[in-house]
Amino acid sequence: MNNYQWYPGHMAKALKTMREDVKSIDVLLELVDARAPESTRNPNIADLSKGKIHILILNKRDMADDSVTKRWMEYYKAKKINAIAIDAKKKEDINRINALVDKLVDEKYSGADTRLAKAVEAAGGKLSERSIKIMVTGIPNVGKSTFINSFAGKAGTKTGNRPGVTKGKQWIRIRKGRELLDTPGVLYVKPLSQESGMRLAFIGSLNDNNLNIDELALDLVKWIIPAYPGSIINRYEVPEEEPLETMEAIGERRGALKRGGIIDYEKTAGIIMDDFRNGRLGEMSLERPE
Ligand code: G4P
Repeated sequence: MNNYQWYPGHMAKALKTMREDVKSIDVLLELVDARAPESTRNPNIADLSKGKIHILILNKRDMADDSVTKRWMEYYKAKKINAIAIDAKKKEDINRINALVDKLVDEKYSGADTRLAKAVEAAGGKLSERSIKIMVTGIPNVGKSTFINSFAGKAGTKTGNRPGVTKGKQWIRIRKGRELLDTPGVLYVKPLSQESGMRLAFIGSLNDNNLNIDELALDLVKWIIPAYPGSIINRYEVPEEEPLETMEAIGERRGALKRGGIIDYEKTAGIIMDDFRNGRLGEMSLERPE
């Protein structure tokens, strides 16, 4: 059986780098996967975002079940977390993020006698003339690079390195008064349960090299049949029976066979995982609010 509670040894180092990077920022955009927003959150964010504007972005909303995403939005609203669901490839959604950032920045800093305003004025500047610094963070495969590309847009021009930020990273001036760190802060999670880890594995946020892909696909089929009945039938035109039989039927249907007509489980698993990860099995949410 796959151990889904595996986590990388460089987790501590990633956290340390992130602690350095957040020192100079005002806004932390935390990207999670809309299909499993809780499992893809890093528990250190609460601490890292202290005193900063924090926005929880449920990305890949186009791949998630809309009705469940709506419930997640209500869930976070009740918890007073600024959450927004987006498709990182959609311009309208990027505009919604910009509008939310502006609203929260205005609420926090406009005319207020805040510490930041005081510090900026003490340094001889005016807050309105200073750029708001934004950083993106999230675990692997939640769409950080895609988001940064969309968010920075074509107009994104790089500005020089600034003190306080790890060497090699650059600020991209995304528009007047807004600068984005060009490199996302990559964090990892130690799954709290096998189930939570399994969701991470399904969406490709755990390294496949540490997993048995046949078992992963079998676990996925086992989960999909009761959770989204009919989706396997729709995609592969095979009956939804016992998971193993279903997987074998998919392999047969797709011609994933070895010499002698034996099912090639690895190839079949590859097909299933690839279809799921590219949304070809339909919109699905892996977890729901309690
Ligand atoms: P990362 O930096 O957090 O590791 O993630 P990255 O941007 O590389 O995105 C991982 C995959 O998720 C990419 O697909 C990317 O296109 C896709 N993706 C990102 N945001 C969204 C979204 O909002 N909706 C959908 N449907 N997909 C999204 P890929 O197959 O690995 O690469 P590619 O085929 O797009 O090149």
